[in-house]
Amino acid sequence: MTTIASTTRTQVAIVGGGPAGLMVSHLLHLAGIDSVVIDNRAVRTIETTHRAGILERDSVRLLVDSGLDRVLRDGHRHEGISLRFRGLSHRIDFENLAGASCWLYPQTDIFIDLHRARTADGADLRFGITDTEVVDILNAPRVRYTDATGHRHEIAADLVVGADGSRSICRSLIPGVTQYFRGYPYAWFGVLVQAPPSAPELIYSRSRDGFALISQRTESVQRMYFQCDPSENPDEWSDDRIWNELQTRLAGEDGFRLKEGPVIERTVLPFRSFVQTPMRHGRLVLAGDAAHTVPPTGAKGLNLALADVRLLADTIQQALTKNDLTVLEHYTARALDRVWKAQHFSYWMTTMLHRAEDSSEFDEQRQLGELTTLVASTAGSTYLAEGYTGWPGR
Ligand code: PHB
Repeated sequence: MTTIASTTRTQVAIVGGGPAGLMVSHLLHLAGIDSVVIDNRAVRTIETTHRAGILERDSVRLLVDSGLDRVLRDGHRHEGISLRFRGLSHRIDFENLAGASCWLYPQTDIFIDLHRARTADGADLRFGITDTEVVDILNAPRVRYTDATGHRHEIAADLVVGADGSRSICRSLIPGVTQYFRGYPYAWFGVLVQAPPSAPELIYSRSRDGFALISQRTESVQRMYFQCDPSENPDEWSDDRIWNELQTRLAGEDGFRLKEGPVIERTVLPFRSFVQTPMRHGRLVLAGDAAHTVPPTGAKGLNLALADVRLLADTIQQALTKNDLTVLEHYTARALDRVWKAQHFSYWMTTMLHRAEDSSEFDEQRQLGELTTLVASTAGSTYLAEGYTGWPGR
């Protein structure tokens, strides 16, 4: 048996140091509860892995209320998006329709803010570890891992949070689960390009050649995606080929053209819809992608993770201060209420805007019928605006 080089005692052991894990740790710290966070990635890897970029109103509120207000200075408030089809753009005005906005603020920046805040508060964060193991989640949970020098360590805690992403190891420790799954016959080709913004807000574009999304990052770097086959090899795509594909999918009678520049990163992002229930067993609770993933079309993934975390931090605080674990029993149902709304929203946005390989002319025309109704109807547009900026409440 391997010897354990050190045992640390804490109130909450958090597996996963991405935005969800660090946010739980941060909120618990503000409530006077200590935690230890472990993650098998290096800080640099998380800081440079490009992910989502849109925050709902309540996600921004959570950041700002917990003292992380850089989003208000460096983020960009977006009061709407454009839906583009048949070569014309239709603005969905979030402020007018739903009285809310969202913010463009990349996930990498949220990680940087949280990592900085946790470090300044003297948090115990352990990155770059391997061989994570969680034992005895019913009685006396312990999390074990191996550090970079090959030594095995143990963290003994009252509760364990599994915020370890879509390839979660914590998820598999919950017995008797139901897993809901839906795959899609397409993926996104994501690029970062060095160019000025082509539009002030996001453009979700449906065309006969497939979906494209125009997003932004800074004055000189933009984020864009186009629908592709999941087996596409990004290395086979030259800059010219990528720009051609994007321009074709955005082209229209209004003469719209994207501003081009060098492609500085290219990746293929497969996606799927997934939910696991329950999200808790004994002293283990899951948050974020560990329990559910959504296709990226509605920008819901990170926002769902932050909503879980807000609920979870409250729940843990009650459980530990009252020394009563029964409050944990309500966590799954409360979290999944929002998760299923977001599952539907993401599925709806995805299927409304993407082109299936085997779609018939009927499917094409029906999809255009749906988009035409949506942009012409205040009720339809309001539904999109409410979902996109985020449903209020817990
Ligand atoms: C992004 O900016 O990366 C982004 C924005 C909206 C989405 C997905 C990704 O729906």
